[in-house]
Amino acid sequence: MKKIEEYVRSIPDFPEPGIIFRDITSVLNDAEGLQLAIDSMDDLLKGVDFDVVVGTESRGFIFGVPIAYKEKKPFVPVRKKGKLPLETISQDYDLEYGSATIEMHKDSIKPGQKVVIVDDLIATGGTVEACIKMIERLGGEVVKVIFLMELKGLKGRERLKGYDVASVISYEGN
Ligand code: PRP
Ligand code: MG
Repeated sequence: MKKIEEYVRSIPDFPEPGIIFRDITSVLNDAEGLQLAIDSMDDLLKGVDFDVVVGTESRGFIFGVPIAYKEKKPFVPVRKKGKLPLETISQDYDLEYGSATIEMHKDSIKPGQKVVIVDDLIATGGTVEACIKMIERLGGEVVKVIFLMELKGLKGRERLKGYDVASVISYEGN
């Protein structure tokens, strides 16, 4: 059986010179690759007691929903600004160039709920750090953060100090 690393394509100089883009479309576009990715991420939740899965638009949706389905838990989307119809809370965060804003419905997390965050990738950790801030403002407790891939060189884990962070595969550098 192939390993998950073998399904990920590494594209040099995308979206900018010097960046190696870790492409997951090749994981998704293979039935065994897709199952292996979801099952491997789900394995990271063994023994974790939680109430709800939160995933970030857009690649966090791809992995978050099937994991919530497998775990028989609800799924809450974190969306890019302006997409959610009801009352929201929002959080700004820094990108490599510039900044962005993400939002959640105010009623999507109840105080005291235990939350697992799912995303495809941790780079600087900025996206997930912004998610954590919103979840905590709503009274939720982040009990685990899981990724398919981790780019170690960008030190995202340092930004998430104090949280239980796990990834299926990791790459040295960025
Ligand atoms: C990518 C990726 C993670 C985030 C990781 O999302 O899917 O969510 O960046 O980077 P960070 O750890 O430095 O925050 P992106 O914002 O490119 O949007 P997408 O998921 O819609 O492709
Ligand atoms: Mg993303």
